Amino acid sequence: MKNLSYLLFGLCLIDKSNLDFSLFTFHFSLKTSSLFTLFPYLCTNFQHKDMKEIVLSGIRPTGNLHLGNYYGAVQNFVKMQEDYNCYYFIADWHSLTTHPKPEDIQQSARTILAEYLACGIDPEKSTIYIQSDVPETIELYLYLNMNCYLGELERVTTFKEKARKQPNNVNAGLLTYPTLMAADILQHRAAKVPVGKDQEQNMEMARKCARRFNNIYGVEFFPEPQNFYFGDHAIKIPGLDGSGKMGKSEGNCIYLYEDAKSIEKKVKRAVTDSGPTEPNQEKPEVIQNLFTLMEIASSKETYDYFNEKWNDMSIRYGDMKKQLAEDIVKTLTPIRERILEYKSNQELLDKVAKMGAEKARESSAATLREVRKIIGFKVY
Ligand code: TYM
Repeated sequence: MKNLSYLLFGLCLIDKSNLDFSLFTFHFSLKTSSLFTLFPYLCTNFQHKDMKEIVLSGIRPTGNLHLGNYYGAVQNFVKMQEDYNCYYFIADWHSLTTHPKPEDIQQSARTILAEYLACGIDPEKSTIYIQSDVPETIELYLYLNMNCYLGELERVTTFKEKARKQPNNVNAGLLTYPTLMAADILQHRAAKVPVGKDQEQNMEMARKCARRFNNIYGVEFFPEPQNFYFGDHAIKIPGLDGSGKMGKSEGNCIYLYEDAKSIEKKVKRAVTDSGPTEPNQEKPEVIQNLFTLMEIASSKETYDYFNEKWNDMSIRYGDMKKQLAEDIVKTLTPIRERILEYKSNQELLDKVAKMGAEKARESSAATLREVRKIIGFKVY
């Protein structure tokens, strides 16, 4: 019996992914009393691998990461690493809707990879991978596309917006963007997806894909993935140009790699007005944007201080911008330093991408084997 315990212990250590199989085999080969002896150890391992909820999220490599990406998504990626089984990827297939140059593809993905690491995503804790390194995603994308309807895809707001912005390139990839996103999530059977507010409709489609697959085949295979955020609402970081959100295509970003001078200049240029005209006045959008950013980037005391100044009409936007820039610089300076370090270490980036791809493919292939069985295809 002792030898058997060691053998089981070894098996679990060598490859934790075999745990299900090990449990299954040993359940049949050991007497019940022997299983009691092993029970505490089995519980620990079981919890480590299987009891942690699965989390997945990704970002398109269409430019450097900015404050919107950071506060809306990446900061939460980092916080979730301890308590969840996390998959974070770089959505290079999604970026094809705007036809990037072939010579830029590899480098753009590695730029985001370096920025992920610089923000604190740890390849020992999370699976970090590049989407195009996991071809299994495409197979699931195809199956999910068979269950999605033209009308509902055409009604997705981001599709309508993008179709309006690029009228000469309304490609099928743009239309089926939400099903590729659903495939990203469902291939790992993720339960939680940390994303910013702008992804809510895509997440609704992902849930629809999961539900529909389960209904069509009469199974309860895919969980319905939930958007995740800390606090009580999803975050939308505004642009400082008076417009809606901070975004790469809006050209109003503060990037994580920027130095203090450049950040100060951008914050100083933020659109404001001539100031409040009565106490406790409702803030117009451009001013609310500044406060929203301050609420996230600065301390509560700082936010309350300037809010009070607004309410008693003594606010000086110059002071507020100076403080806001200072707080952003404080957060970004160490990240910027690490970005520079990681970007110059291509060998490390390649190693992380390879390790992540292997782990992600293993998880994805296991799901796809089940999916093929459910649909009625041969399993290979
Ligand atoms: P992308 O690349 O546009 O943005 C990546 C993440 O950053 C968040 N974000 C923001 N959050 C708050 N305020 C902002 N101004 C802001 N700008 C961006 C986004 O909400 C997002 O979380 N479709 C996705 C990528 C993707 C994905 C997935 C995400 C592909 N497959 C599967 C989750 C799960 C996208 O284009 O994100």
